[in-house]
Amino acid sequence: MNPTASDIKSPASVSRLRCIQCGNIRDRADQDFRCPNCGDLFEVFYPGWQTDQGTSTGQTADALKEQWQDRKKSLAPADTSGVWRFRELLPQLKTGQEPITLREGNTPLYELPRCARSAGVDFLQAKHQGMNPTASFKDTGMTTAASFARQEGFRWVACASTGNTSASMAAYAARGGMRSLVLIPEGKISWGKLSQSLDYGAVTCQLRTDFDGCVRVLNELVKRKPIYLLNSVNPYRIEGQKTAAIELMEQLSWRPPDHIVAPGGNLGNSSALGKALVEMKELGLIPRLPKLSVIQAEGANPFFRSIHEHAGKKLVPVEAETLATAIRIGNPASWKKALRVIEATGGSVEQVSELEMALAKAEIGSDGVGCEPASAVTLAGLKKLVKQEFVRPHESVVLILTGHVLKDPEFTLKFHRGDLFAGTAYEKDASVLAKQQRAPLVLDASTEAVAKALEKFENASTQ
Ligand code: F0G
Repeated sequence: MNPTASDIKSPASVSRLRCIQCGNIRDRADQDFRCPNCGDLFEVFYPGWQTDQGTSTGQTADALKEQWQDRKKSLAPADTSGVWRFRELLPQLKTGQEPITLREGNTPLYELPRCARSAGVDFLQAKHQGMNPTASFKDTGMTTAASFARQEGFRWVACASTGNTSASMAAYAARGGMRSLVLIPEGKISWGKLSQSLDYGAVTCQLRTDFDGCVRVLNELVKRKPIYLLNSVNPYRIEGQKTAAIELMEQLSWRPPDHIVAPGGNLGNSSALGKALVEMKELGLIPRLPKLSVIQAEGANPFFRSIHEHAGKKLVPVEAETLATAIRIGNPASWKKALRVIEATGGSVEQVSELEMALAKAEIGSDGVGCEPASAVTLAGLKKLVKQEFVRPHESVVLILTGHVLKDPEFTLKFHRGDLFAGTAYEKDASVLAKQQRAPLVLDASTEAVAKALEKFENASTQ
């Protein structure tokens, strides 16, 4: 018989929900996934992991690693998923329930030699979560949360989104036989992402507001209608997204890098990566914690300001504005979770300008990898962390690239044509981007014309 995602049944595999603020413990959350006592967020925890002998899933770290390797030989859907392969560290579905999977995870770890030089470090790698089935990291959390939605019998799932969550949710809902409702800010998401949710059959509403406005509407709606909320306040999303860090450690032979750098928007992803790191350390899967740092865009920097202006004691929402529309978020839901893991790992929080982000995106492209704008804040932020000597040149660094380069081709085309910042406050400084710009050449259909263009290019690059 094929193994399924519900094939582990031991006391250690039982998960519960715990409020991160007041510690309230529940087996099931209300529709809005907020603690009814204090209004804060829930996290999944595994009471059975706390034993007299320390933290354990009931298997040794070596046995877990071996089992996860063994599953790579299996063709069962739960084993070919790069999320459910690590199911000992995830909440369990009921016996007989299959996960909704598109074989998410299994994403590559790339070396970035040109970017390393540009950032001033000896060795730089990127884990490309944009290589997931819907081309963003969201799929790793959506497979878990959508599977729990179906298990609970919901016919409708919904999210507010800057584009990637909605694309992912729409795909997983369709695969799982559920209907999906998408709320997105009108005019502020890329066409690629919008088109995905249309093709996957979502009811797509473009609201005349920003992401934070969409969240407000949805939070009210789920209290009125039998709709399952799939934003990252849903702790089952966070559990799936944890596996990116587990898979990364496996790819590094369980030798953690010195630093991991992730972009920050609603801050679910950094919370998830950090939760995985802390759990892996507790379970003896890794010997030490890498420092997890989070980078925001200057125009959407409430978390950066919280840390640097209020010592993380409070978060004052901002009106967000950035061309990296994926992280155009002024009131991040998971900031307290993110703060906790940054403190636990000793990481840093930085912000980068629009120009720094745009340049970094082209540099990541020049390594033959590419990513969407929001992901590029990681490289731009790393440059700052190196200048501050928070990251030393000999230290190993992994950037988390969250979205595929084809998610936002309009940004890329405008960048290369030189009109990304036309008419903006950045226009006069945009000349720093020139060395990365490769505008398409429109030529007559003659060999001569193409040969001349090539010569011109070669002369320019040898100067
Ligand atoms: N990178 C990309 C490509 C994203 O789409 C997002 C968030 C982030 C980074 C930030 O991750 O929110 O977990 O801190 N996108 C969400 C969405 C908000 O609706 O697609 P975060």
